Amino acid sequence: MPDTAPVSASVVPQALIAALGAALGAGGMLTDSADTAPYATDWRGLYHGSTAAVLRPASTAEVAECVRLCAAAHVPLVPQGGNTSMVGGAVPAEDGSQLVLSLSRLARVRALDPLDLTLTIEAGVTLKAAQEAAEAAHCLLPLSIASEGTAEIGGVLATNAGGNNTLRYGNARDRVLGLEVVLADGSIWDGLRRLRKDNTGYCLRQLFIGSEGTLGIITAAVLRLEPAPAERIAAFAALPSPEAALALLRRLRHHDAAALVAFEYMSAAGLALVLAHIPGTRLPLAEKAPHYALIELASSRPDAGLAAGLETVLAAAMEAGEVTDAAVSASEAQRASFWRLREEHSEAQRLAGASVKNDVSVPVPAIPEFLARAAAAGAAVVPGIRVVPFGHLGDGNIHFNFVQPEGMAAAAFLAASEALMDAVNEVVHDLGGSFSAEHGIGRLKPAMLASWRAGPELALMRRIKAALDPDCLLNPGKVLLR
Ligand code: MLT
Ligand code: ZN
Repeated sequence: MPDTAPVSASVVPQALIAALGAALGAGGMLTDSADTAPYATDWRGLYHGSTAAVLRPASTAEVAECVRLCAAAHVPLVPQGGNTSMVGGAVPAEDGSQLVLSLSRLARVRALDPLDLTLTIEAGVTLKAAQEAAEAAHCLLPLSIASEGTAEIGGVLATNAGGNNTLRYGNARDRVLGLEVVLADGSIWDGLRRLRKDNTGYCLRQLFIGSEGTLGIITAAVLRLEPAPAERIAAFAALPSPEAALALLRRLRHHDAAALVAFEYMSAAGLALVLAHIPGTRLPLAEKAPHYALIELASSRPDAGLAAGLETVLAAAMEAGEVTDAAVSASEAQRASFWRLREEHSEAQRLAGASVKNDVSVPVPAIPEFLARAAAAGAAVVPGIRVVPFGHLGDGNIHFNFVQPEGMAAAAFLAASEALMDAVNEVVHDLGGSFSAEHGIGRLKPAMLASWRAGPELALMRRIKAALDPDCLLNPGKVLLR
């Protein structure tokens, strides 16, 4: 449970709390520690912050008013959406000096235009609800992440979430045509344009996307949609090696690159945890294998013949020894059950004990070498460690996670977190990769960012932060070290 120790009144002035309460009205602010506690700790349980109040504005104007009042009192704000960050990106500091600003009540779909293929939506709508709004208009919002039932659009954009369909549709930033942002001084930038072409100076929206709430607070966005798929099919394939996974990916691309939506990797160890800890899951194949891939194809053409094409590719891959067994979904329910095996990996790992996550990327051809070297590096730090790699192989993004050895105390295992991350990152660096592919920096990785991006790149980031948030009032302690 989070640390809910009361904050001393001297940290956040009572007059500010009173002014915020008056501005937000009934239901607009939480101050009881039992109510604020869930907002002060993160999903992974890594950080236990403390806050005097959670602000719950219901409109952009109210967000702006909160920012103005806090800026005048020099009290920092931590913007928060669904609070599903993997890197502690949305939790306040332990000392009670920061207020949480929840965007959850900004939950309106403002407009949806199926001809324009655009969705104008507020920050507090969950990703799942946004997908459903698109679906109701026969469109597709092709952003998909495991936490989509809780994660909210504002956070998804502020962190430039990646996810399961990046291979075909790009990261969150590739979906955004326009943004509405409350700036650090409380002014509102209405950049909710919905133009495909707009070459008018610096592309400001891209600054805020991925800035993790440190440059401004995203309150609404215009997202690019796609036509709804007429056909969608998935395959669950058993593979002898990571090299075979790359060969299969290549084969699928050559067959029909436009239809390939996802190519996800799972190891035997990861799948075993899912089957052991998640009720109702079962292996859709006759035999276990050392590696698995989940492949999804989709097309807006009703006559695309995806199943026949996929079966032809899988048969050729089997003949070449790249695939040892495969199941192709025969219904939507079966397709969903394949995805469940992949999407429950994080939860299964959480249930299996303490874990250390490495959300890394390397060039796709380097994945087999990365998997072998990183596994050896982890085992050298903690003998008996459970190596559980999985993720978005098609994007070169592997969640190279470690689970504590059976019988080891969680605290003793977590004491090795830094050494484990360093060991993996050394391999990542060597292969020209990134230490944070899609989860961002948050509170967990500012020191890594400072060392990996040292030099002109980090200096530029600092200058941007100083220009947009000179008093460092927006999500301090995240992304950049102070
Ligand atoms: C996922 O793809 O399921 C999450 O990004 C993963 C994680 O637990 O590292
Ligand atoms: Zn992921």
